[in-house]
Amino acid sequence: MSNYMRSIIFKKVIKPLRNTDNAYQHKIMSNLKIQFNSAYDTYSFKLPLKSNDYNIVNEIENIAKNDLKDTFDNIAVKDNVIYFNVQRDKYVIKTLENNLCGVTPPLLVENKKNIIVEFSSPNIAKPFHLGHLRSTVLGNCISNINTFLQNQVTKINYLGDWGTQFGYIQLGMDMSNIDNIELQSDPIKTLYKVYVHANTLATDNPEIHKRAKEIFKDLELGDNINYENWQTIKHFTALELEKTYKRIGIVFDKYDWESLYTAKNINKMISLMEEMQLLTLDNDNRKVVFVSEEKAIPIIKSDGSTLYITRDIAAAIDRFEKNKFDAMYYVVDYSQSDHFLNLITILSKMKLPWVDRLKHVKFGRVHGMSTRKGTAVFLEDILDEAKEKMKQKQITTKTTKVPLNEMDVVSDILGVSGIIVQNLKQGRMHNYEFNWNTMLNLKGDSGIKLQYTHCRLCNLEENCGAALVTECDPSLLKESEVDSLITLISQFDEVVLKSYEELEPCILTIYLFHLSKAISVAIQKLHIKGEPNDLGNQRLLLFRIAKITLAQGMKLLGLTPLVKM
Ligand code: ARG
Repeated sequence: MSNYMRSIIFKKVIKPLRNTDNAYQHKIMSNLKIQFNSAYDTYSFKLPLKSNDYNIVNEIENIAKNDLKDTFDNIAVKDNVIYFNVQRDKYVIKTLENNLCGVTPPLLVENKKNIIVEFSSPNIAKPFHLGHLRSTVLGNCISNINTFLQNQVTKINYLGDWGTQFGYIQLGMDMSNIDNIELQSDPIKTLYKVYVHANTLATDNPEIHKRAKEIFKDLELGDNINYENWQTIKHFTALELEKTYKRIGIVFDKYDWESLYTAKNINKMISLMEEMQLLTLDNDNRKVVFVSEEKAIPIIKSDGSTLYITRDIAAAIDRFEKNKFDAMYYVVDYSQSDHFLNLITILSKMKLPWVDRLKHVKFGRVHGMSTRKGTAVFLEDILDEAKEKMKQKQITTKTTKVPLNEMDVVSDILGVSGIIVQNLKQGRMHNYEFNWNTMLNLKGDSGIKLQYTHCRLCNLEENCGAALVTECDPSLLKESEVDSLITLISQFDEVVLKSYEELEPCILTIYLFHLSKAISVAIQKLHIKGEPNDLGNQRLLLFRIAKITLAQGMKLLGLTPLVKM
């Protein structure tokens, strides 16, 4: 695969360049493009350089011509583009033989990084909405790509368990006499019910609103509050969430609670702000920070309690102290852009040298969602409905190869695949319409389609009668369908690197749709059954590598590749 050529070019040519630093070498490498040119029967690796890099062009050319004679058949420079050409047959052999044991990750030019990805982050007792779902799926994919590239990744779920609504929950719990058994059996929905109940009562009764506010204030500032109760609520909720995350194949490294960063725990941060004279009292007696001349952001309310941004400042400082990350990504929808802008401005005003390492990875809205159970969406209900729909489809089309006792597991994986891919296939910033039909459609660009292609390859392997050989004979692989597949397979690491750099899972997702289509075309044209053994074996080798590549890509998206459906 191109990875091999890429790493040779990097190690032997780019790394030894004089007068270049890591960043510059990285820039050069990200320009490296692979292109198949059938007219000359070659694959070329193009390295376009700007004309002011003229000396570098010469230097690269010299090193390459000396040291890469054996790898490439010809190295040429034209218009500041360096072509590393390799004959097609040699390339096919390399691609098919080097990947039999799995896809090796593309080489990162920069040093390994320590990355925090904060994603999902729903609020307790409020429904897990589609924005949280999109954050979950995007954040997980970004984490997977980083892990694949051998960065050190910490996945954090920052759970919203603080704010005035928790006064309502406490009140609602007391009024409804909810016991632990009920809470434990369905914590998320029970808390939501309680919250809605207290809220509804408060619309006609201002006393209740006042009481809820007091309870919350006590929770944040008081000494004699029932903390234990609060811990129980959180404990059950986390357990329940964990079950659901597991269903979509996600395990967090850490649950970070907003309540870890409340009035009692932020003295250090406040003294730092005071030291730097950033805090001023406003007319409402709140402590504020000016992020611009006319814009003041409240940090501490008049009663001494904290705000959402206060807790985020404290959390960022705490995470840096503990983890010394090279980058921290907040995967949160764009409606919170101002919030993160303020956060970053305030941290810069505090002169924290690592503030440039924070990035708000924003994304667009999801419209038009309802489940059979209504418009308040719970993740679990979405997953159940997707699974049920897939199960019905499987049963009614009667094409399934899955025995009845495995049907539930397979339908669940298919439903989840549909949901994940629907969330990843458009650019992050695009708003999109939640649509059950396109999401679960076998024919369109969907997660179901990717699973189907993978299953076809597994089925082919099992039933074609050919033997898997490890040596490639390119003279038997001459069709244009082979070239299309090899070209796509070669692009895998280029695509992963681009997804990584742009924090755009859609680049990988769209690539996998193309790969899946090329595989389907190849399966139709390149028969195995009924062909001479040698030919069949070579074709099987090609399909095996296609399967390994597709499966690796699917895993990065967060899917579990199925062997039958
Ligand atoms: N819990 C918040 C919400 O649902 C999202 C948290 C995003 N992360 C953060 N560090 N503020 O809106």
